Amino acid sequence: MEKITSLAKRRGFVYQSSEIYGGQNGAWDYGPLGIELKNRIANAWWKEMTQLHDDIVGLDAAILMHPRTWEASGHVENFTDPLVDCKNCKARFRADQISEENLTAKKCPECNGELTDTRKFNLMFKTHIGPAEDTASIIYLRPETAQGIYINYKNIIQSSRMKIPFGIAQIGKAFRNEIVTKNFIFRTCEFEQMEMQYFVKPGADDEWFAEWRKRRWNYYEKLGIKMDHLRWHQHGPGELAHYAKEAYDIEYLFPMGWRELEGIHNRTDYDLGRHAMYSGKDLQYIDQENNSARYIPFIIETSAGLTRNVLMILCDAYDEEQVADKGNDDDWRTVLRFHPRLAPITAAVLPLMKKDGLAEMAQDIRKELKEDFAVDYDQAGAIGRRYRRQDEAGTPFCITVDYQSKEDGTVTLRYRDSMEQVRVPIAELTARLRQEIKTYKRTK
Ligand code: GAP
Repeated sequence: MEKITSLAKRRGFVYQSSEIYGGQNGAWDYGPLGIELKNRIANAWWKEMTQLHDDIVGLDAAILMHPRTWEASGHVENFTDPLVDCKNCKARFRADQISEENLTAKKCPECNGELTDTRKFNLMFKTHIGPAEDTASIIYLRPETAQGIYINYKNIIQSSRMKIPFGIAQIGKAFRNEIVTKNFIFRTCEFEQMEMQYFVKPGADDEWFAEWRKRRWNYYEKLGIKMDHLRWHQHGPGELAHYAKEAYDIEYLFPMGWRELEGIHNRTDYDLGRHAMYSGKDLQYIDQENNSARYIPFIIETSAGLTRNVLMILCDAYDEEQVADKGNDDDWRTVLRFHPRLAPITAAVLPLMKKDGLAEMAQDIRKELKEDFAVDYDQAGAIGRRYRRQDEAGTPFCITVDYQSKEDGTVTLRYRDSMEQVRVPIAELTARLRQEIKTYKRTK
Protein backbone atom coordinates (compact mmCIF):
# COMPACT_ATOMS: atom_id res chain seq x y z
CA MET A 1 0.00 0.00 0.00
CA GLU A 2 2.91 2.33 0.71
CA LYS A 3 4.18 1.87 -2.85
CA ILE A 4 0.75 2.61 -4.27
CA THR A 5 0.27 5.67 -2.06
CA SER A 6 3.64 7.04 -3.06
CA LEU A 7 3.11 6.35 -6.79
CA ALA A 8 -0.34 7.96 -6.52
CA LYS A 9 1.17 11.13 -5.16
CA ARG A 10 4.23 11.18 -7.41
CA ARG A 11 2.20 10.76 -10.60
CA GLY A 12 -0.74 12.97 -9.62
CA PHE A 13 -3.45 10.41 -8.91
CA VAL A 14 -4.23 11.27 -5.28
CA TYR A 15 -2.87 13.84 -2.81
CA GLN A 16 -3.54 14.22 0.86
CA SER A 17 -6.11 16.96 1.45
CA SER A 18 -4.77 20.25 2.91
CA GLU A 19 -1.24 18.90 2.89
CA ILE A 20 0.39 22.31 3.42
CA TYR A 21 -1.46 22.56 6.77
CA GLY A 22 -0.35 19.11 7.88
CA GLY A 23 -3.16 17.24 6.14
CA GLN A 24 -6.85 16.69 6.84
CA ASN A 25 -7.66 13.22 8.14
CA GLY A 26 -10.11 11.22 6.07
CA ALA A 27 -10.04 13.52 3.05
CA TRP A 28 -8.10 13.21 -0.22
CA ASP A 29 -7.74 15.23 -3.40
CA TYR A 30 -7.71 13.69 -6.87
CA GLY A 31 -4.98 15.05 -9.16
CA PRO A 32 -4.88 15.22 -12.98
CA LEU A 33 -4.53 11.45 -13.50
CA GLY A 34 -6.74 10.59 -10.51
CA ILE A 35 -9.75 12.59 -11.64
CA GLU A 36 -9.49 11.00 -15.12
CA LEU A 37 -9.36 7.53 -13.58
CA LYS A 38 -12.22 8.26 -11.19
CA ASN A 39 -14.36 9.70 -13.99
CA ARG A 40 -13.72 6.67 -16.18
CA ILE A 41 -14.65 4.25 -13.40
CA ALA A 42 -17.82 6.25 -12.77
CA ASN A 43 -18.60 6.32 -16.50
CA ALA A 44 -18.09 2.56 -16.84
CA TRP A 45 -20.51 1.96 -13.95
CA TRP A 46 -23.01 4.50 -15.29
CA LYS A 47 -22.95 2.96 -18.75
CA GLU A 48 -23.38 -0.52 -17.31
CA MET A 49 -26.29 0.50 -15.12
CA THR A 50 -28.20 2.93 -17.33
CA GLN A 51 -27.25 2.60 -21.00
CA LEU A 52 -27.14 -1.20 -20.89
CA HIS A 53 -30.32 -1.53 -18.82
CA ASP A 54 -33.53 -0.21 -20.38
CA ASP A 55 -35.25 -0.48 -17.00
CA ILE A 56 -32.83 1.76 -15.05
CA VAL A 57 -32.80 5.57 -15.07
CA GLY A 58 -30.45 8.04 -13.41
CA LEU A 59 -30.81 10.65 -10.69
CA ASP A 60 -28.67 13.30 -9.04
CA ALA A 61 -30.27 14.21 -5.72
CA ALA A 62 -29.04 16.95 -3.38
CA ILE A 63 -26.60 16.12 -0.60
CA LEU A 64 -28.58 18.23 1.88
CA MET A 65 -31.96 16.66 2.59
CA HIS A 66 -34.76 17.34 5.01
CA PRO A 67 -33.56 16.14 8.44
CA ARG A 68 -36.68 13.98 8.84
CA THR A 69 -35.21 11.83 6.03
CA TRP A 70 -32.57 10.53 8.44
CA GLU A 71 -35.04 9.92 11.25
CA ALA A 72 -37.21 7.92 8.87
CA SER A 73 -34.27 5.99 7.42
CA GLY A 74 -33.16 4.96 10.92
CA HIS A 75 -29.77 6.64 10.61
CA VAL A 76 -30.32 9.06 13.51
CA GLU A 77 -31.03 6.13 15.80
CA ASN A 78 -28.97 3.29 14.36
CA PHE A 79 -26.09 4.55 12.27
CA THR A 80 -23.55 4.25 15.02
CA ASP A 81 -20.18 2.68 15.71
CA PRO A 82 -19.19 1.42 19.16
CA LEU A 83 -16.36 3.60 20.44
CA VAL A 84 -13.77 3.31 23.23
CA ASP A 85 -11.01 5.71 24.27
CA CYS A 86 -7.79 5.05 26.13
CA LYS A 87 -7.66 7.17 29.28
CA ASN A 88 -3.88 7.06 29.21
CA CYS A 89 -2.65 7.58 25.62
CA LYS A 90 -5.96 9.06 24.35
CA ALA A 91 -6.04 6.66 21.38
CA ARG A 92 -9.54 6.01 20.03
CA PHE A 93 -10.75 2.64 18.75
CA ARG A 94 -13.82 1.04 17.28
CA ALA A 95 -14.79 -1.48 19.93
CA ASP A 96 -15.61 -4.06 17.25
CA GLN A 97 -12.08 -3.78 15.85
CA ILE A 98 -10.08 -4.58 18.97
CA SER A 99 -9.70 -8.05 20.48
CA GLU A 100 -12.35 -9.48 22.78
CA GLU A 101 -9.60 -9.92 25.38
CA ASN A 102 -8.64 -6.22 25.36
CA LEU A 103 -12.27 -5.17 25.39
CA THR A 104 -13.25 -7.30 28.40
CA ALA A 105 -10.10 -6.37 30.32
CA LYS A 106 -10.62 -2.72 29.23
CA LYS A 107 -6.96 -2.71 28.23
CA CYS A 108 -5.61 -0.40 25.52
CA PRO A 109 -4.05 -2.46 22.66
CA GLU A 110 -1.37 0.20 22.23
CA CYS A 111 -0.21 1.19 25.73
CA ASN A 112 -2.09 -1.22 28.09
CA GLY A 113 -3.77 1.83 29.67
CA GLU A 114 -7.37 1.71 30.86
CA LEU A 115 -10.15 1.93 28.26
CA THR A 116 -13.42 3.81 28.77
CA ASP A 117 -16.80 2.05 28.61
CA THR A 118 -18.08 1.45 25.10
CA ARG A 119 -20.33 4.21 23.86
CA LYS A 120 -22.32 4.63 20.68
CA PHE A 121 -21.09 7.21 18.23
CA ASN A 122 -23.27 8.41 15.36
CA LEU A 123 -21.38 8.60 12.08
CA MET A 124 -23.44 11.34 10.48
CA PHE A 125 -21.91 14.79 10.11
CA LYS A 126 -24.26 17.32 11.60
CA THR A 127 -24.29 21.01 10.77
CA HIS A 128 -26.74 23.92 10.78
CA ILE A 129 -28.63 25.56 7.98
CA GLY A 130 -29.34 29.28 8.23
CA PRO A 131 -27.91 31.76 10.72
CA ALA A 132 -29.25 30.23 13.96
CA GLU A 133 -27.38 27.29 15.42
CA ASP A 134 -30.30 25.69 17.28
CA THR A 135 -31.93 22.28 17.12
CA ALA A 136 -34.46 23.49 14.56
CA SER A 137 -31.66 24.26 12.09
CA ILE A 138 -29.84 20.90 12.28
CA ILE A 139 -29.07 19.37 8.92
CA TYR A 140 -26.97 16.33 8.02
CA LEU A 141 -24.46 15.59 5.29
CA ARG A 142 -25.86 12.43 3.70
CA PRO A 143 -24.11 9.24 4.81
CA GLU A 144 -25.41 7.31 1.78
CA THR A 145 -26.83 8.41 -1.57
CA ALA A 146 -29.66 5.86 -1.42
CA GLN A 147 -32.18 7.98 0.50
CA GLY A 148 -32.25 10.61 -2.29
CA ILE A 149 -33.49 7.84 -4.57
CA TYR A 150 -36.21 6.62 -2.22
CA ILE A 151 -37.74 10.02 -1.67
CA ASN A 152 -37.79 10.64 -5.44
CA TYR A 153 -39.18 7.27 -6.47
CA LYS A 154 -42.73 8.58 -6.97
CA ASN A 155 -41.46 11.58 -8.97
CA ILE A 156 -39.60 9.21 -11.24
CA ILE A 157 -42.57 6.89 -11.75
CA GLN A 158 -44.73 9.88 -12.64
CA SER A 159 -42.25 11.67 -14.90
CA SER A 160 -40.62 8.68 -16.59
CA ARG A 161 -43.53 6.19 -16.51
CA MET A 162 -41.32 3.46 -15.07
CA LYS A 163 -43.02 0.15 -14.33
CA ILE A 164 -41.96 -2.35 -11.72
CA PRO A 165 -39.43 -3.92 -11.84
CA PHE A 166 -37.21 -0.89 -12.47
CA GLY A 167 -34.15 0.78 -11.05
CA ILE A 168 -32.72 4.21 -10.25
CA ALA A 169 -28.97 4.80 -10.35
CA GLN A 170 -27.01 7.57 -8.74
CA ILE A 171 -23.37 8.56 -8.22
CA GLY A 172 -22.51 11.12 -5.59
CA LYS A 173 -20.69 12.19 -2.48
CA ALA A 174 -21.42 10.72 0.93
CA PHE A 175 -19.96 11.65 4.30
CA ARG A 176 -19.28 9.62 7.43
CA ASN A 177 -17.51 10.70 10.58
CA GLU A 178 -15.31 7.59 10.55
CA ILE A 179 -13.38 6.93 13.75
CA VAL A 180 -10.63 5.01 12.04
CA THR A 181 -9.46 6.27 8.67
CA LYS A 182 -6.46 4.40 7.41
CA ASN A 183 -5.29 2.49 4.35
CA PHE A 184 -5.11 5.48 2.05
CA ILE A 185 -8.47 6.15 0.33
CA PHE A 186 -10.08 2.90 1.53
CA ARG A 187 -12.11 4.39 4.38
CA THR A 188 -12.51 8.14 4.39
CA CYS A 189 -14.87 10.72 5.86
CA GLU A 190 -15.74 12.16 2.46
CA PHE A 191 -16.17 9.64 -0.35
CA GLU A 192 -18.30 8.83 -3.37
CA GLN A 193 -20.80 6.06 -3.89
CA MET A 194 -22.30 4.46 -7.00
CA GLU A 195 -25.66 3.13 -5.90
CA MET A 196 -28.56 1.55 -7.72
CA GLN A 197 -31.92 0.82 -6.12
CA TYR A 198 -34.07 -1.75 -7.92
CA PHE A 199 -37.79 -1.69 -7.11
CA VAL A 200 -39.54 -5.07 -7.27
CA LYS A 201 -42.83 -6.68 -6.35
CA PRO A 202 -42.90 -8.12 -2.80
CA GLY A 203 -42.21 -11.82 -3.14
CA ALA A 204 -40.00 -11.33 -6.21
CA ASP A 205 -37.20 -9.90 -4.05
CA ASP A 206 -35.23 -13.12 -3.43
CA GLU A 207 -35.06 -13.87 -7.13
CA TRP A 208 -33.95 -10.32 -8.01
CA PHE A 209 -31.43 -10.34 -5.18
CA ALA A 210 -29.78 -13.43 -6.70
CA GLU A 211 -29.92 -11.87 -10.17
CA TRP A 212 -28.21 -8.65 -9.04
CA ARG A 213 -25.53 -10.57 -7.23
CA LYS A 214 -24.77 -12.33 -10.51
CA ARG A 215 -24.80 -9.12 -12.56
CA ARG A 216 -22.50 -7.23 -10.23
CA TRP A 217 -19.99 -10.09 -10.17
CA ASN A 218 -20.00 -10.26 -13.98
CA TYR A 219 -19.43 -6.50 -14.14
CA TYR A 220 -16.05 -6.77 -12.40
CA GLU A 221 -15.10 -9.62 -14.70
CA LYS A 222 -15.91 -7.42 -17.68
CA LEU A 223 -13.67 -4.67 -16.25
CA GLY A 224 -10.80 -7.15 -16.37
CA ILE A 225 -10.29 -7.39 -12.60
CA LYS A 226 -8.24 -10.35 -11.30
CA MET A 227 -11.15 -12.63 -10.44
CA ASP A 228 -9.14 -14.63 -7.89
CA HIS A 229 -8.90 -11.35 -5.93
CA LEU A 230 -12.67 -11.18 -5.53
CA ARG A 231 -14.90 -13.23 -3.23
CA TRP A 232 -18.33 -13.14 -1.62
CA HIS A 233 -18.97 -12.48 2.03
CA GLN A 234 -22.45 -13.09 3.38
CA HIS A 235 -23.51 -10.90 6.32
CA GLY A 236 -24.34 -12.90 9.42
CA PRO A 237 -27.28 -11.86 11.65
CA GLY A 238 -24.99 -9.68 13.82
CA GLU A 239 -23.60 -7.84 10.80
CA LEU A 240 -26.78 -6.98 8.90
CA ALA A 241 -27.55 -3.26 8.64
CA HIS A 242 -30.74 -2.14 10.32
CA TYR A 243 -32.57 -2.07 6.96
CA ALA A 244 -31.40 -5.36 5.47
CA LYS A 245 -33.05 -8.76 5.26
CA GLU A 246 -30.11 -10.28 3.42
CA ALA A 247 -26.75 -8.85 2.37
CA TYR A 248 -23.64 -9.97 0.54
CA ASP A 249 -20.42 -8.04 0.06
CA ILE A 250 -18.12 -8.41 -2.87
CA GLU A 251 -14.71 -8.36 -1.21
CA TYR A 252 -11.40 -7.58 -2.87
CA LEU A 253 -7.98 -8.78 -1.78
CA PHE A 254 -6.40 -5.39 -1.01
CA PRO A 255 -2.74 -5.22 0.17
CA MET A 256 -4.06 -5.15 3.78
CA GLY A 257 -6.25 -8.22 3.21
CA TRP A 258 -9.81 -9.04 2.12
CA ARG A 259 -12.07 -6.00 2.45
CA GLU A 260 -15.52 -4.93 1.29
CA LEU A 261 -15.70 -3.36 -2.15
CA GLU A 262 -19.44 -3.35 -2.78
CA GLY A 263 -22.57 -4.40 -0.93
CA ILE A 264 -25.70 -5.98 -2.39
CA HIS A 265 -28.63 -5.66 -0.01
CA ASN A 266 -32.23 -6.78 0.13
CA ARG A 267 -33.66 -3.70 1.90
CA THR A 268 -37.23 -5.04 1.72
CA ASP A 269 -39.98 -2.40 2.01
CA TYR A 270 -38.21 -0.90 5.04
CA ASP A 271 -37.13 2.42 3.54
CA LEU A 272 -40.25 3.27 1.55
CA GLY A 273 -42.44 2.07 4.44
CA ARG A 274 -40.62 4.35 6.86
CA HIS A 275 -40.73 7.35 4.50
CA ALA A 276 -44.47 6.81 4.00
CA MET A 277 -44.90 6.76 7.77
CA TYR A 278 -42.74 9.81 8.50
CA SER A 279 -43.94 11.96 5.58
CA GLY A 280 -47.59 10.92 5.70
CA LYS A 281 -47.47 10.45 1.91
CA ASP A 282 -48.82 7.42 0.13
CA LEU A 283 -45.75 5.75 -1.38
CA GLN A 284 -47.57 2.66 -2.61
CA TYR A 285 -47.09 1.55 -6.18
CA ILE A 286 -50.22 1.02 -8.24
CA ASP A 287 -49.64 -2.04 -10.35
CA GLN A 288 -51.75 -1.43 -13.42
CA GLU A 289 -50.71 -4.71 -14.97
CA ASN A 290 -52.00 -6.50 -11.90
CA ASN A 291 -55.60 -5.28 -11.39
CA SER A 292 -54.29 -2.02 -9.93
CA ALA A 293 -52.93 -3.88 -6.91
CA ARG A 294 -51.29 -1.50 -4.40
CA TYR A 295 -48.13 -2.30 -2.55
CA ILE A 296 -44.90 -0.83 -1.19
CA PRO A 297 -42.17 -2.20 -3.47
CA PHE A 298 -39.24 -4.16 -2.10
CA ILE A 299 -35.80 -2.79 -2.90
CA ILE A 300 -32.66 -4.57 -4.00
CA GLU A 301 -29.69 -2.28 -3.61
CA THR A 302 -26.25 -2.50 -5.21
CA SER A 303 -23.92 -0.09 -3.42
CA ALA A 304 -20.30 0.37 -4.51
CA GLY A 305 -17.80 2.91 -3.30
CA LEU A 306 -16.47 4.91 -6.26
CA THR A 307 -13.39 6.10 -4.41
CA ARG A 308 -12.92 2.59 -3.01
CA ASN A 309 -13.16 1.30 -6.59
CA VAL A 310 -10.37 3.74 -7.53
CA LEU A 311 -8.18 2.14 -4.85
CA MET A 312 -9.14 -1.35 -5.99
CA ILE A 313 -8.35 -0.53 -9.63
CA LEU A 314 -4.98 0.97 -8.62
CA CYS A 315 -4.09 -2.10 -6.54
CA ASP A 316 -5.32 -4.48 -9.21
CA ALA A 317 -3.34 -2.72 -11.95
CA TYR A 318 -0.10 -2.26 -10.00
CA ASP A 319 2.78 -4.42 -11.13
CA GLU A 320 6.55 -4.40 -10.95
CA GLU A 321 8.32 -6.28 -13.66
CA GLN A 322 11.89 -7.06 -14.52
CA VAL A 323 12.40 -6.25 -18.15
CA ALA A 324 15.30 -7.12 -20.40
CA ASP A 325 14.76 -4.65 -23.17
CA LYS A 326 17.65 -2.56 -24.45
CA GLY A 327 20.02 -5.34 -23.34
CA ASN A 328 19.80 -4.29 -19.72
CA ASP A 329 18.81 -7.35 -17.68
CA ASP A 330 18.56 -5.45 -14.41
CA ASP A 331 15.99 -3.01 -15.66
CA TRP A 332 12.79 -2.97 -13.60
CA ARG A 333 9.64 -1.16 -14.47
CA THR A 334 6.56 -0.19 -12.52
CA VAL A 335 3.49 -0.58 -14.63
CA LEU A 336 -0.19 0.07 -14.05
CA ARG A 337 -2.09 -2.45 -16.14
CA PHE A 338 -5.34 -0.52 -16.40
CA HIS A 339 -8.00 -1.68 -18.81
CA PRO A 340 -7.66 0.80 -21.74
CA ARG A 341 -11.26 1.90 -21.07
CA LEU A 342 -10.18 3.07 -17.61
CA ALA A 343 -6.66 4.34 -18.28
CA PRO A 344 -6.38 8.12 -17.65
CA ILE A 345 -4.25 8.45 -20.79
CA THR A 346 -5.16 6.17 -23.67
CA ALA A 347 -2.19 6.90 -25.91
CA ALA A 348 1.03 8.91 -25.75
CA VAL A 349 2.61 10.32 -28.88
CA LEU A 350 6.41 10.45 -28.70
CA PRO A 351 8.73 11.85 -31.36
CA LEU A 352 12.00 9.94 -31.37
CA MET A 353 13.83 13.28 -31.83
CA LYS A 354 12.70 16.86 -31.43
CA LYS A 355 14.45 17.85 -34.66
CA ASP A 356 14.05 17.13 -38.37
CA GLY A 357 10.30 17.69 -38.34
CA LEU A 358 9.54 14.66 -36.12
CA ALA A 359 8.10 16.80 -33.30
CA GLU A 360 5.77 18.61 -35.71
CA MET A 361 4.63 15.32 -37.20
CA ALA A 362 3.97 13.92 -33.71
CA GLN A 363 1.99 17.04 -32.76
CA ASP A 364 -0.18 16.62 -35.86
CA ILE A 365 -0.91 13.00 -34.88
CA ARG A 366 -1.75 14.06 -31.35
CA LYS A 367 -4.13 16.71 -32.64
CA GLU A 368 -5.89 14.19 -34.82
CA LEU A 369 -6.19 11.52 -32.11
CA LYS A 370 -7.32 13.76 -29.28
CA GLU A 371 -10.76 14.17 -30.87
CA ASP A 372 -11.40 10.53 -29.92
CA PHE A 373 -8.98 9.62 -27.14
CA ALA A 374 -7.17 11.02 -24.11
CA VAL A 375 -3.73 11.64 -25.60
CA ASP A 376 -0.48 12.76 -24.03
CA TYR A 377 2.58 14.17 -25.79
CA ASP A 378 6.11 13.77 -24.49
CA GLN A 379 9.35 14.74 -26.18
CA ALA A 380 11.60 15.01 -23.11
CA GLY A 381 14.44 12.54 -22.53
CA ALA A 382 15.48 9.17 -23.90
CA ILE A 383 12.70 7.13 -25.50
CA GLY A 384 13.15 4.25 -22.98
CA ARG A 385 12.64 6.69 -20.09
CA ARG A 386 9.53 8.07 -21.75
CA TYR A 387 8.09 4.56 -22.12
CA ARG A 388 8.71 3.96 -18.40
CA ARG A 389 6.92 7.19 -17.49
CA GLN A 390 3.91 6.13 -19.53
CA ASP A 391 3.98 2.59 -18.05
CA GLU A 392 3.84 4.11 -14.59
CA ALA A 393 0.83 6.23 -15.57
CA GLY A 394 -0.84 3.12 -17.00
CA THR A 395 -0.94 4.37 -20.62
CA PRO A 396 -1.77 1.29 -22.71
CA PHE A 397 -0.43 2.56 -26.05
CA CYS A 398 2.61 4.59 -27.08
CA ILE A 399 2.96 5.89 -30.60
CA THR A 400 6.49 6.71 -31.66
CA VAL A 401 7.29 8.90 -34.63
CA ASP A 402 10.70 8.18 -36.17
CA TYR A 403 12.60 8.77 -39.40
CA GLN A 404 10.78 5.92 -41.15
CA SER A 405 7.52 7.75 -40.40
CA LYS A 406 8.64 10.56 -42.71
CA GLU A 407 9.36 8.11 -45.47
CA ASP A 408 6.39 5.76 -45.40
CA GLY A 409 3.76 7.40 -43.16
CA THR A 410 3.90 4.67 -40.49
CA VAL A 411 4.60 4.88 -36.75
CA THR A 412 5.41 2.31 -34.11
CA LEU A 413 2.60 1.30 -31.80
CA ARG A 414 4.02 0.02 -28.50
CA TYR A 415 1.86 -2.08 -26.19
CA ARG A 416 2.26 -1.34 -22.49
CA ASP A 417 1.66 -4.90 -21.27
CA SER A 418 3.83 -6.90 -23.66
CA MET A 419 6.13 -4.00 -24.69
CA GLU A 420 5.76 -5.36 -28.22
CA GLN A 421 6.05 -2.87 -31.06
CA VAL A 422 4.36 -3.02 -34.45
CA ARG A 423 4.29 -0.57 -37.36
CA VAL A 424 0.95 0.99 -38.18
CA PRO A 425 0.04 3.47 -40.95
CA ILE A 426 -0.82 6.86 -39.42
CA ALA A 427 -4.08 6.89 -41.36
CA GLU A 428 -5.18 3.71 -39.57
CA LEU A 429 -4.32 4.77 -36.00
CA THR A 430 -7.80 5.83 -34.88
CA ALA A 431 -9.46 2.64 -36.09
CA ARG A 432 -6.61 0.54 -34.69
CA LEU A 433 -6.82 2.07 -31.22
CA ARG A 434 -10.60 1.66 -31.17
CA GLN A 435 -10.23 -1.99 -32.05
CA GLU A 436 -7.48 -2.54 -29.46
CA ILE A 437 -9.62 -1.01 -26.71
CA LYS A 438 -12.65 -3.07 -27.67
CA THR A 439 -10.80 -6.39 -27.81
CA TYR A 440 -8.40 -5.82 -24.88
CA LYS A 441 -7.77 -8.89 -22.72
CA ARG A 442 -5.47 -8.68 -19.77
CA THR A 443 -2.71 -11.25 -20.00
CA LYS A 444 -0.51 -10.38 -17.01
N1 GAP B 1 -26.54 2.42 0.87
C1 GAP B 1 -25.91 1.33 1.47
C2 GAP B 1 -24.59 1.64 2.01
O1 GAP B 1 -24.20 2.79 2.08
P1 GAP B 1 -22.43 0.55 2.98
O2 GAP B 1 -22.01 -0.90 3.00
O3 GAP B 1 -22.39 1.30 4.23
O4 GAP B 1 -23.89 0.54 2.37
C3 GAP B 1 -21.56 0.88 0.55
O5 GAP B 1 -21.57 1.30 1.89
C4 GAP B 1 -20.19 1.04 -0.07
O6 GAP B 1 -19.74 2.38 0.08
C5 GAP B 1 -19.12 0.19 0.58
O7 GAP B 1 -19.08 -1.12 0.02
C6 GAP B 1 -17.86 0.96 0.26
O8 GAP B 1 -17.40 0.62 -1.05
C7 GAP B 1 -18.33 2.39 0.26
N2 GAP B 1 -18.02 3.04 1.55
C8 GAP B 1 -18.71 2.98 2.71
N3 GAP B 1 -18.12 3.71 3.68
C9 GAP B 1 -17.02 4.25 3.12
C10 GAP B 1 -15.98 5.10 3.60
N4 GAP B 1 -15.99 5.57 4.84
N5 GAP B 1 -14.99 5.45 2.74
C11 GAP B 1 -14.98 5.00 1.47
N6 GAP B 1 -15.93 4.20 0.96
C12 GAP B 1 -16.93 3.81 1.76
